[in-house]
Amino acid sequence: MQRFQNKVVCITGSGSGMGRMAALRFSAEGAIIAGADLNAAGNQETKNLVEATGGTMFTGSAVDLTDASATEAWMNSAVAALGRIDVLYANAGATKFSPIEETTPEEWQWVMKRELDLTYFPVKYAWNALKASRGNIVLVGSTAGMRGSMTNTRVAHSVTKGGTIAMMQQLAAEGAIHGIRANSVSPGMIRTPATEGDLLADNHPMRKIATAIPLQRIGVPEEVVNCTLFLASDEASYVTGVNLPVDGGWSAVLPGFGVI
Ligand SMILES: NC(=O)c1ccc[n+]([C@@H]2O[C@H](COP(=O)([O-])OP(=O)(O)OC[C@H]3O[C@@H](n4cnc5c(N)ncnc54)[C@H](O)[C@@H]3O)[C@@H](O)[C@H]2O)c1
Repeated sequence: MQRFQNKVVCITGSGSGMGRMAALRFSAEGAIIAGADLNAAGNQETKNLVEATGGTMFTGSAVDLTDASATEAWMNSAVAALGRIDVLYANAGATKFSPIEETTPEEWQWVMKRELDLTYFPVKYAWNALKASRGNIVLVGSTAGMRGSMTNTRVAHSVTKGGTIAMMQQLAAEGAIHGIRANSVSPGMIRTPATEGDLLADNHPMRKIATAIPLQRIGVPEEVVNCTLFLASDEASYVTGVNLPVDGGWSAVLPGFGVI
């Protein structure tokens, strides 16, 4: 039995990394995908991959999800084309890391826009469709929104991801009366195009971080998406307001020396 048969799953940031993996996995479980991304070529590649396995994916041209009216127009076009939205996976994001002393006001605003606005706008403009379907929302937080870090200085990113987790809890509160559940996944270190070129690059202090992760390795996109599928499915029908860390135990266990 496929968990998302005849469901419409809207995924932001479907043109790369974990968003692409989510499109493939939801599709494999019967969902019709609506995918939005600024990267139109990447999104088209995801659509091709979904369709190569017999799935259906609705896309359009590039959508900048930091733009309220572009997001509203895209969401309306998805509902017009597909008739409903059952799940919103607000996964898109772009960030910059810097310590408080070096974070300029411009950089702070840059990160707020690309991690909070682009989460808030899709939720806002999908809300009526989710009310109609009694659907659910999965946001993407991060261990960065749960804990500080000595190796990755990232004050703006910590705030946006902490804010995303707080947004999820408030959506759980406001959605309950409409039958809308809201949860979040909070990845730790996951190997994607975004981390390959930055935190996991050879010259970055974070590259050795796996030694501080209890499960002793970096995660892969499918391990995050597996948790998203569970939270978005009817198997989680009594789960709302939950932030699920997907981090190999990183946020739960104090770092130590060579005990294993
Ligand atoms: N990779 C990790 O280790 C990690 C850890 C914690 C949280 N996360 C979060 O997971 C999510 C996915 O990350 P990823 O590693 O797959 O990144 P990624 O860069 O591979 O994918 C992000 C996608 O979002 C899209 N996007 C960015 N800005 C956009 C905009 N303004 N409008 C529309 N689309 C836009 C990008 O084009 C890209 O396709 C992000 O929210 C990220 O913060 C990632």
